[in-house]
Amino acid sequence: MLLGVNVDHVATVREARKEAEPDPLTAAGLAVRGGADGITVHLREDRRHINDRDVEAIRKKVGVEMNLEMAATDEMTGIALSVKPDLVTLVPEKRAELTTEGGLDLKKGRSMIRRAIETIQGQGIPVSLFINPEVGDVGMARELGARMIEIHTGLYANARGPEWQRELKRVREAARKGAALGLEVNAGHGLNFSNVGKIAAIREIRGLYIGHSIVAAAIYRGMEEAVREMKRLITKSSR
Ligand code: PXP
Repeated sequence: MLLGVNVDHVATVREARKEAEPDPLTAAGLAVRGGADGITVHLREDRRHINDRDVEAIRKKVGVEMNLEMAATDEMTGIALSVKPDLVTLVPEKRAELTTEGGLDLKKGRSMIRRAIETIQGQGIPVSLFINPEVGDVGMARELGARMIEIHTGLYANARGPEWQRELKRVREAARKGAALGLEVNAGHGLNFSNVGKIAAIREIRGLYIGHSIVAAAIYRGMEEAVREMKRLITKSSR
C-alpha cells in the first residue's frame, strides 16, 4: 500500500511568520527519504498554507507521485493543467473551515465536478474524488467519470466508543464497491499512528494520504535534536 504524505502544515508553520522556513519542499524531500511514495499539497483558494510557488517547486523537484488537492473551480483547473501533477484530488472547500470537513457533495456539485474531471482527465491527468464512505457516493463518482476515489476516514478516525467499528465497516464497504466498479481506491483524513492499521488492512485500498499526524510526530521527534544543536552553539560562544 502506498503512503502519500501531505506537507500542508509545514507551510502552515511557515505562514505563521511569513518567513522562508520551514519549507514544504525540503520537508517533502525528507518524507521521500523516509519512504513516502507520494507528496500531497492542497492549494486552497485563500492560499493559507501552500502557495503557487510551492506547487511548482514540488512538481519540479520531487520525484514521487504528486497529488494536487484542490476545489473543482475553473481557477484551480487552470493551475492543474499548467502544473500537470500526477494526480488531482477534488475536495470541497469552505473558507472558514480548519480542514476539509467532509467528502464532496456529488449531487450539488455535479456539473462543476463533471466539468473539472473531463477537462483534467482529458489532458491525461487522473482525477480522484474525495468522498464520504457511502456506497451511493462511490457509484456517483464512477458515473461522473473519475478514475479514482479517496474515501474520507475522518469519521472513523474521530469516532469515540463503539461507533468506530461501524465507521470502519462503512469505509471497507465503500472501498469494496469502488474496486468492484473498477475505480482505484485511496483513503485518508485523520489517520494517525494508532488508527492507521485497520484501514491499511483493507485490501482494496491502493494508498493512504496522511498529513497532520506525521507533521506532529516530526515536530516531537526533531525537537530534541534542534534544541541540542542550538544549545551547543550558544554554549560554544558564551563560554
Ligand atoms: N485527504 C484529504 C482529501 C485531505 O483534505 C486531507 C487533509 O488536508 C488529508 C487527506 C490528510 O488528512 P490529515 O492531515 O488529517 O492526515
